[in-house]
Formats: sequence, C-alpha cells, structure tokens
Amino acid sequence: MAHQRAGQHRDSQLDVQLPDYARELLERSTLIIVSNRGPVEFHQTNDGEITTKRGTGGVITAMSAAARFADAVWVACAMTATDRVIAEKMRQRREALLTIPDLPGFRLRFVVPDTEAYHGYYNRIANPLLWFLQHYLWDTPRAPDIDHETWQAWHEGYVAVNRLFAEEVVAAAAAAPREPIVLLQDYHLYLTPTFIRELRPDLLLHHFVHIPWPDQDYWRLLPLPMRRAICEGLLANDIVGFQTPRHARSFLNTVDANLPEAEVDYRRREVTYRGHTTRVRVYPISIDPELVRAVAESEDACRHREHLEAFRNEYTIIRVDRAEPSKNVVRGFLAYDRLLEKHPELIGRVNFLAFLVPTRMEVAEYINYLDEINAVVGRINAKYANAAEIEGIHWEPVHLFVGDDYPRALAAMKFYDVLLVNAIFDGMNLVAKEGALLNERNGVLILSEGAGAYQQLGQWALTVSPTDIEGTAEALWQGLTMPAAERAWRAEQLRRHVVEHDLRRWLVDQLHDIADLYAERTPHRLIAPS
Ligand code: F6P
Repeated sequence: MAHQRAGQHRDSQLDVQLPDYARELLERSTLIIVSNRGPVEFHQTNDGEITTKRGTGGVITAMSAAARFADAVWVACAMTATDRVIAEKMRQRREALLTIPDLPGFRLRFVVPDTEAYHGYYNRIANPLLWFLQHYLWDTPRAPDIDHETWQAWHEGYVAVNRLFAEEVVAAAAAAPREPIVLLQDYHLYLTPTFIRELRPDLLLHHFVHIPWPDQDYWRLLPLPMRRAICEGLLANDIVGFQTPRHARSFLNTVDANLPEAEVDYRRREVTYRGHTTRVRVYPISIDPELVRAVAESEDACRHREHLEAFRNEYTIIRVDRAEPSKNVVRGFLAYDRLLEKHPELIGRVNFLAFLVPTRMEVAEYINYLDEINAVVGRINAKYANAAEIEGIHWEPVHLFVGDDYPRALAAMKFYDVLLVNAIFDGMNLVAKEGALLNERNGVLILSEGAGAYQQLGQWALTVSPTDIEGTAEALWQGLTMPAAERAWRAEQLRRHVVEHDLRRWLVDQLHDIADLYAERTPHRLIAPS
C-alpha cells in the first residue's frame, strides 16, 4: 500500500546524485508518464470549491518521484466527476495541459472515455479479469466466465480506452518541448503501445508491469485473441520491465506459447517480433527511504502514534494492506485465531492491528471480500471476548482500522513485534519494505513466498506459504517468541537491504537501459552508460 506519500515531502535523496548518463538523458527529454490513475484527483466540495487529493498506489509514488527529475507530462484517466468537468472545460478552452498545484514542474493530460467504456475497461477487464488472472485468484471451475458481456467490455472498454490513451500520448509527444520518452505503467494499458506504434513508430516506449506475470498455462484462461493482443501490445515497446526474474521469464514463455512467429532469446532476454526487438528487463521497485521517514516523522503521524499507544499490548502484530483478495487478509486472521487456540497463554497479551484501505468498490469481488474480512474479525473478537471475560479482563484481539491514512499506517509500523505480509501473490509489496525501514522494536517480518519482495527479503524473514493457515500460525508464534539477538540481526539485515535497494536505484536502472538503447540508436548524441 502506498498513498498520500509522494510530493508531501519533496527534499529527498532522490533529488541528488544521478549518474551522468541519466542526468544527460533527462536534460534532453520530456518524460511522458502514462498510467490509468493520475497523480491527483479533483473533487468539488458542497460550496463548489475544487480540492485535490493525491492519487493512491505504488505507481503514483514511483512515477511522482521520476517526474521530479525531468520535464514531465502525465497522461491519465479522468476518474472523478470533477476530473471530467475540468477536462471538459479544458477542451472548450482548447487547453491540453493542466498544471498541478502541489506538484510544480509537471503537467497532466486527461484521457476522457465515456463512463460506460471506462466501466468496461476498469471494472470488468483490468479489475477483476486481468488482476485476478495475474494474481492467480480465479476459482477456475466457476470463474471467469468470458461471456458476451466480457467480450463487449473488451472491445468497447479495454481496447477503446487503450486506443484513447495512445492518441493522447501521441498528441503529448507532438507537443513535447524535448525528445519524448514514453513510460507506460501497468496492466490497464497493455494494448496502448500497439496503437502508439501505428501512429508514431519512432517513439521510445518503455512499459513497467507492477504486478506478477503468471505462468503461460494460466494465461489460457483468457481466449487466444485476448492473450495474443496483450503479448503483441507489450512487444510493441522497446523495453518491458518486471518486478522479478521469474515474472520476466514467465512473460518470455507466454510470448513463446502464443506468438509462434516471435523469436525469443532467453539468454539475452529479448524478443524479436515482426522486425522489432523488445528487451525484457527486471527492476524490483522500492521505496524512497527519506520520503517514508519524513512522513513517519510528520506531525500527523506523531499524533496517530500517540493515539495508537492505547491499542498496543505486550505483543503487537500488525498488517497494512489494501482490502483486496490477493492480500489474503482473511487467512491471516484465521492463522491468528489458530495461534490463540494453540497458545491460550497469549489471551489478553497480544493485539492484532489491521490497517486496511478499501479499494475498487465498484467491483463485486472486492465488496464481498471486505464483507468477509468484517465477518471473520467479528467472529474472532466475539469468540475471545467470552474467553477474556472468564479470565476477568477486557480484551479485543483484533482492531480493524479501515480507511486511507498513510501517516497512521507508518506510525504503526514503528512499534510492531510482528508484521504479517501473507499475500497470495503480489508484484512486490512495499509494506514489507516500509516496515523493515521504520520498525523500532526489531520486529519480525513474516513474508509470503508469493510476494515479489520475497526474492529480495525472504532470507531475513519468516517464510509462509500463503494458503498454509497452520504454518502461518506457527510463524506468528515463532515471530513473537524469537530470541532478541536473532530479531536484532534479521531486522538490521532487512533495513540495510531496503536502504541500499531504494526507489532511486529502481529509476536509475531503467534510465540506464533507456540511455543504453539511445546510445545504440544515436551513438553520437549521448553518453553511453558504462
Ligand atoms: O501495480 C498495481 C497498482 O497499480 C498499484 O499501484 C496500486 O497499489 C494499485 O494497483 C492501485 O490500484 P487502483 O488504481 O485500481 O486503485
């Protein structure tokens, strides 16, 4: 989870020390950042005043940081009613670019699909169809059903909105004062590169996929025309980035299985398709430690910290997540319930604080999941309320904090004894990194094998298999009772790794590969990275 984060504190490490090739590249370029969600949403109060709210999510955090380095234009969907009103006024005034009050230096271009097209694109295809597929969430004997309505949402929603994005990117590139570099983000926009190429074959296109890329067999849940279009779309880029080597490898396998005409070079991680070569690379995303610390030290966070003191206990377990099926929140509570059953000596002595952000509330699967979370928490609290009464104490084993409050979540990360990250699958999981950075009690990280972060942090965490409730209960016990010296050593290794592999590194690695590509294409123009 990452929200309200970037831009609040702008004097961060990211502003210093770029390698020469990266600095030169940025000085010559206009970054065209393209994502479904933009850096801000506009809302209108009852008195007609227009307010801005920062967009939520890892994409926004990461790309807001990138935008600070360079001349940048952000192409994003008008998501709120007020976004649409503003976009319409801009259209009438023939203005394409909107400056953003609290993000000086970069500008926004809206893509404005009609509401039905947007619904098909976002609420039917991107979430849940692609999101569920890429996180292995489908209960396959029952879902997904690709019926007439799904196909309609594909053609009139996903394809149509991707085309609109491409048109806006091409317009942004034409108006760019410097050489454009197009940075596409995520699963909403898999087809956009195909449509951009039709209009501007010369543009440099870089696409980062923030979520897992599943095994090629699982992609067969999608009909062949859909998965071919997705592969072709990604291969219209010059570089495609993934979070982990495994995801990159799965992508190469998927291309191999679905586009027999493509030449896949596994050793060089390159694909040549219809005369165009795409490099497939790995860039594990991270956090900006300075920025995260600054929010965690903010007045707001300190106020929360004081308030949260009342919810701590001798042992405190926390989790911080979007309330989302891939995060596996319900099984986390079932494991906690099992821990209390196996270790009644913990009754009254341990609290589980869960900070959950509701998300995608237009999609039935998400609404149902939030209901399931509430139900399981209610059951556990009721069950142990009785047990506690017998012992003569007032104790609520689970405290649920629902809402989008990033400073509050960071405040809580400082004091956990155990942080539970048991996602079924996750592209990266930045909570694991934020916790490792901020915790002040040598807290233990319990980390799912399915999180991308596991490949970097797994060796210092307690490993859980996400479906293993019994194993997760055991890990919770081990985490709470681990000897102090071992806790301290693991916590130190985690912190060091996160600081050394920060968001700046994620950006610089991508700039390195882009500069490399430019240096090959136009060797006289740029310093080649070493
Ligand atoms: O990469 C996945 C992602 O785009 C993250 O940035 C973020 O956590 C989440 O999905 C945001 O989703 P949405 O924009 O649908 O709220």
